[in-house]
Amino acid sequence: MFLALLLRRAGIESVVLERHSRDYVEGRVRAGVLDRITVDVMGRLGLDARLRREGLAHAGTTLMFDGETFHIDFQALTGSHVTVYGQSEVMKDIFDAADERGLNVVFEADDVRVHDFETERPFVTYKKNAEALRVDCDFIAGCDGSHGVSHSAIPQAKLKIFERVYPFGWLGVLAEVPPAHHELIYCNHENGFALASMRSPRRSRCYLQCDMDERLEDWPDGRFWDEFVQRMGPETGARVTRGPSFEKSIVPLRSFVAEPMRHGRLFLLGDAAHIAPPTGAKGMNLAVSDAVMLSEALEESARNGSQTALDAYSARALTRVWKAERFAWWLTGFTHRFPGNSPIERRLQRAEFEYLRDSRAAQTAFAEKYVGLPLA
Ligand code: PHB
Repeated sequence: MFLALLLRRAGIESVVLERHSRDYVEGRVRAGVLDRITVDVMGRLGLDARLRREGLAHAGTTLMFDGETFHIDFQALTGSHVTVYGQSEVMKDIFDAADERGLNVVFEADDVRVHDFETERPFVTYKKNAEALRVDCDFIAGCDGSHGVSHSAIPQAKLKIFERVYPFGWLGVLAEVPPAHHELIYCNHENGFALASMRSPRRSRCYLQCDMDERLEDWPDGRFWDEFVQRMGPETGARVTRGPSFEKSIVPLRSFVAEPMRHGRLFLLGDAAHIAPPTGAKGMNLAVSDAVMLSEALEESARNGSQTALDAYSARALTRVWKAERFAWWLTGFTHRFPGNSPIERRLQRAEFEYLRDSRAAQTAFAEKYVGLPLA
């Protein structure tokens, strides 16, 4: 959707095929932290009226190890902040704008397939209400996630896949209760990681590291809050407001990158090319920066027929993707409990925590990655 809106501004038409309904996409609970690139793009696209009213500017974050905390001040260290605003809110704003601007968005498009993208005349077929349809186009943008048809349509031998599946997940709840703190808290506790996040001053989003074979029915709200309070330690735990959850789910943690992010006239963006564990909230932000880079390349090609920027898209996007992947991998590594870890690993995690706590250089390095590296 970001790509379609950016292209529209440059006078380039597109058709967006979405497998699900608008309600489904807007109802999906996803991450909630926008980095500065995403906020900039929403501004440039004129999509930020509600974001500016309702988004929460977070000038920093808190890290916690066994109840001890320290604060990283993004604003002081980088001059930037992040904005807490749910991905579902972003989707609502974007779909409204697409409606107003007359973008061609087809919801509930079934059986989407990409064809002939190794030639000059690629096309996409799909079904809508059982009718078979076809879109002839110049380029295809595969924005359909890691299980979508785009990256699986590329010959295996042409893609190099890098993947790590973490031996745990995150159990997340949404509840209509004020957050324990005005900013996020990333917590390493001997029982496992916990994250105190939010969607608004009245709505909390909280996570607990859990085993992937946990079952939601074994985690009634009472048990969730008991464990969350324990991991947050006595001081922060005392400020946790318990309340009934209205969403509860377990998300797996995975690092995944497919290289290159292009085959012929098929370009991969977002989760179709890369997944980062949610620690650090990079997923949607990376998808948006991919869209900015591809829109720039397509604009150049439309303007003067040059393929240079299109040829450079994959390498340019991957440079930024890998840095974000590394950040999410590193932050996951020193905040989570890894099965089979021995006391030395936990002691090393504490050393990492203390180094960050005591080094302005280390905090600056953290902050510049958290608020989003420049597009370069
Ligand atoms: C969220 O609020 O869902 C969230 C925030 C920060 C993260 C991951 C998820 O690092």
